[in-house]
Formats: sequence, C-alpha cells, structure tokens
Amino acid sequence: MNLKTIREVNFDNKRVLVRTDFNVSVDIDGNIMDTYKLESIVKTVDYILSFSNVKLALISHRGRPSNKDDEKFSMKYLIDDLQKVLDMKVKFVSDCIGEKISNELNIVEDDEVILLENVRFYKEEKKNDKDFAKKLSEPFDVYVNDAFSVSHREHASICGITKYLPSYAGIRLIKEISILEEAKKAVNHPAIAIIGGAKIETKLPLIKKFEESYDKILVGGRISIEAEDAKIEFSNKIVLPVDYAENKFDIGEKTIEEFVSYIKDAKTIIWNGPLGKFEEKPFDKGTVFIANAIAKNKKVFSIVGGGESVQALNQTGNFDKISFVSTGGGAMLSFLSSQGMPGLEVLTK
Ligand code: 3PG
Repeated sequence: MNLKTIREVNFDNKRVLVRTDFNVSVDIDGNIMDTYKLESIVKTVDYILSFSNVKLALISHRGRPSNKDDEKFSMKYLIDDLQKVLDMKVKFVSDCIGEKISNELNIVEDDEVILLENVRFYKEEKKNDKDFAKKLSEPFDVYVNDAFSVSHREHASICGITKYLPSYAGIRLIKEISILEEAKKAVNHPAIAIIGGAKIETKLPLIKKFEESYDKILVGGRISIEAEDAKIEFSNKIVLPVDYAENKFDIGEKTIEEFVSYIKDAKTIIWNGPLGKFEEKPFDKGTVFIANAIAKNKKVFSIVGGGESVQALNQTGNFDKISFVSTGGGAMLSFLSSQGMPGLEVLTK
C-alpha cells in the first residue's frame, strides 16, 4: 500500500492533529488495563515534536458513548498514564471542536501536547459528517492518522477530515501495514485463525474470507454461541467448541484440548478476541490456555491483536513471544481478510 507518510512533511511552525486510538479498557477502579495503545504513538509524537515550533494535539474515541454526558468515557482519565508514557505534560481540553482548541494551541508550550475530548461524544463522528469533519480540521494545518486500529471505520476523524487538511500516515500505522501486508502474502501452512469475542454478524464475513486461505478457523467466545443459536452452517474448516464451561461463559476442557492440538503444529496463527468471559475469573481459562499455547509454538509466525487478546498475553507473560502484536482487533482482521479499510484508502498517493 502506497501511503502518504509523515516522513514527507516539514512540520516546522505547523499545528498538527494526530488521530490516535486510546480506546483502552479500564478496571473497576478506573485504572487502564493495558497501556499498549498509548505506547504505540510515542514514535510519531517524538518525531513531529522534533521539528521547531510545532503545536500538537491528539484526538481519539473511547468506547461507544451514547451521548456527551456519558462522562465515564471522557479522555481526561487517561492524562496521568499518557503523561508517563509520553514523558511530557499533557493538557486536556474538554471538547474536540470550537474556539477552545485554537486558544489552547496558542498557548501550548513546545514540550507539551494537547489531548482533546472523546470525538465520539459527537454523533456526527460515526456518520462521517462533512460539517463536523470540517470543524475538527479548522484549528490545524496538518492531519496525521496513527490509529491503524480504527482505520476500518468510515468516521469523520478518520476519513472526512482528510478532505480539509493535508493528511499523512503516522509511524505506527506504517509499521502495522508493512508487517500485516507481508503476513498476507506469505501464509505458511498449517495456517490457523482463532476468532473470538462478540458479534457474529460482523465476524462472519471475516471467517468466510479466512476460509479461503487458512486451514482451520477456531471459533470461540460469544460468536460461537451466537453462530449456534442462529444455526449458521459452516464448512469443516471451521472448528466450533464441542463443550463449554458453566453458563457457556468459556470454552470447555475438550475444546481447549482440541484447539491446542491445532495451535501446536501451526506455522501461521492469527488471533483476535477472547474465547470466553475473559474479564471474569475463572472464565479467562480458555483464553489464557490459547495465549500460552501460541507462545509455546516456536516455529509459528504469530499475529495477535485486540484488547482482551493483548491483555491475555500480558497476563501470561507472553507478549514478547508473539511475532507481532497488532494494535488492531477488528481492523487487523479486516486488513488481513481484504475487507475495506476506508481510513487507509484516503491516505493513498
Ligand atoms: C478497537 O478497539 O478495536 C478500536 O478502537 C475500534 O473501536 P470500535 O470497534 O468501537 O470502532
């Protein structure tokens, strides 16, 4: 994919808006479970700030808030973690459009960045609304997308905004694409895709696509139950659970054994989505077994992406044993199965 990248830009004296993905899970005390997504933008931020007199703001969504008062989704809760990760002061602005932004850009110091409020507090974001995209763009000179994991969404801060500003791919986004493109070209067999999580209607087309080039697709989590309930017929490449834990909150012992038997001999593995109710013990067992099994296979090229899958890797100490950990969950599956990536299309040369 031939994208316009930030390496082509002179950022001196520019006001820059960087689209990040800070859609992170928090525990019941509001602590961030995993700072991987925050860490993923460090190189882009450092690179842009290496130019002189740059004013830099970060924008992201978090969760799926229903309205502006859905305060638990505010970005302000990320400030402390973000300051630690970026090792610089982060100034929070309680909106993402309007005069406030220009005012803050006027006074922000060279070694500070601005964090804007959750862009999904505006319903226009998901509608890719033109006027809203224009408003987002107005305080800035340049737009950078470093949020690979949202680039499968045709939203205003991903797509619409590129009509109003010169737009470029950030360093993390470029890395994701170059590794995932290689992985797409060279699929060594046996190749296994493991797909969990929820929403069979969004994952079914991806499962069907993986069926074309992968040997087995192991399906667990909510989607296997949803598929069974909907009586969806699959080919013998799709491996559904043969048993479950209590209340179907996790895959059962026999299923774990069967899934592990495929994983241990695989040469390529893609994994996204928990196999059970991962956030509630003991229903994390299936997901933890899968994380350990992938890490034990020393011959495999493995790619893992998505919130809970990455958390499972951290929890089991296996993060560094995976060939590539993607920031994308749905975006990674969409890219690998050649579904549309509207956020990347708008950045092509
Ligand atoms: C993700 O966590 O996969 C991305 O942030 C996309 O979030 P979404 O599925 O709510 O669009």
